[in-house]
Amino acid sequence: MRKKIIAANWKMNKSFTEVQEYVKQFPTTEATCYNHTQVILCIPSTYLQWCIEYFKHTQIAIGAQNVHDSEKGAFTGEISAIMLKSIGTTYCIVGHSERRQYFNETDSQIARKVELLHKYSIIPIFCCGETLEQRNNNVHFSIIEKQVNSVIKNLSDDQMLKTIIAYEPVWAIGTGINATAHQAQEMHTYIRKIIQSKFNDKITQNVIILYGGSCNSFNAHELFSCADVDGGLIGSASLNVDEFIRIIKTAQDIQNKIIQK
Ligand code: PGA
Repeated sequence: MRKKIIAANWKMNKSFTEVQEYVKQFPTTEATCYNHTQVILCIPSTYLQWCIEYFKHTQIAIGAQNVHDSEKGAFTGEISAIMLKSIGTTYCIVGHSERRQYFNETDSQIARKVELLHKYSIIPIFCCGETLEQRNNNVHFSIIEKQVNSVIKNLSDDQMLKTIIAYEPVWAIGTGINATAHQAQEMHTYIRKIIQSKFNDKITQNVIILYGGSCNSFNAHELFSCADVDGGLIGSASLNVDEFIRIIKTAQDIQNKIIQK
């Protein structure tokens, strides 16, 4: 059975004082509350080491939001997979649409990033998603197929299992317009089909696929109840600790019901 994953993507937000306030309010002692649900905070790189230390003895994992596609060298201002690993980072977002759009990241660069993360045993949270124009032109399935294939074509069975996919339609990110449960489920099923064309059924059924894009405590229940939606990558709604905890609890409730069945 797949577990639920709720990942925060803080993007370029919060001062160190705000980070300290946020984590103080985060329930870390309720160990059982995180059973079957993995919570990941993907935070600005400046706070990674401090947060990793802070959450060391808890079930909360810390992730980065990006990594460079080279192992090391003359890339001023960039951060490598080796650096992330050396401070204990366990997850890293790659291929977010904001990176594709504002930093011109290509599918092949993103595929290299995923490979490097695997080399250093960091779990990639690989993002894919179509624009509104692409959806309106009815090419959304082929766009996702191209983005997903460019990454999974090089993965071993074990690496595929250790890759989290986040479907984030660009038109839903930060707009307040989330994909409907139907749209999310339809695309997640399609992504699973793409995986199935290269991997066996067991692997296909075990890959975690998250939904992201204006997900909040009001729509989380409907979205996370979809059979192929294994949780969410949460942007704006993760910035407020109470709201983020409501979303985590929603995922836990759904997962507990599945387990009790
Ligand atoms: P949003 O962002 O929840 O603010 O729409 C999601 C994301 O970009 O990962």
